[in-house]
Amino acid sequence: MKNIILIGFMGSGKTSAAISLSYRLRRTMVDTDKEIERLHHMTVSEIFERLGEDEFRSMETRCLERLLGRSGGEIISTGGGLPIREENRKLLKRLGTVIYLRVKPETVCTRLEADTSRPLLQGGDKEEKVKCLLEARGPFYESAADFIVDTDEKTTDSIVDEILERAGAAIR
Ligand code: S3P
Repeated sequence: MKNIILIGFMGSGKTSAAISLSYRLRRTMVDTDKEIERLHHMTVSEIFERLGEDEFRSMETRCLERLLGRSGGEIISTGGGLPIREENRKLLKRLGTVIYLRVKPETVCTRLEADTSRPLLQGGDKEEKVKCLLEARGPFYESAADFIVDTDEKTTDSIVDEILERAGAAIR
């Protein structure tokens, strides 16, 4: 069975949608950040601080490779920067149906206003950082995705309804 993979920027609602999909389809859910944290006994912030972003990106690649070795049919929520690497985009395609949860910078800023867990958004002008990163990453998300779902002002339930409707037979 194919996996369902959610990609998109920090604060796009991947985790909430993945939890809901997992519940509605009775399938297990995997979160690449959580897998990496569990395996390395460090939070993502600690990994960035001690080992650097590049090493974290390699951990993401290895995480996708491990997921490829499993039997499939899982709901996979990914870290927001995972599709930046070409290697990772190729692995995503092999893993299953890839859905890009698109979000506007203003929505991200509202949702992550008080967040301290994302190392790439700490310090300085958060709005500017979000805008720049989103602009740079947009083409990568788009090229990795089978289809795009806009998430601004939508509830998790309606996002999941749209995913299920549009994915149709591809995820069964
Ligand atoms: C990152 C997004 C985070 C996490 C790490 C880096 C990014 O995941 O992987 O902080 O580069 O956008 P979420 O998208 O789940 O916040």
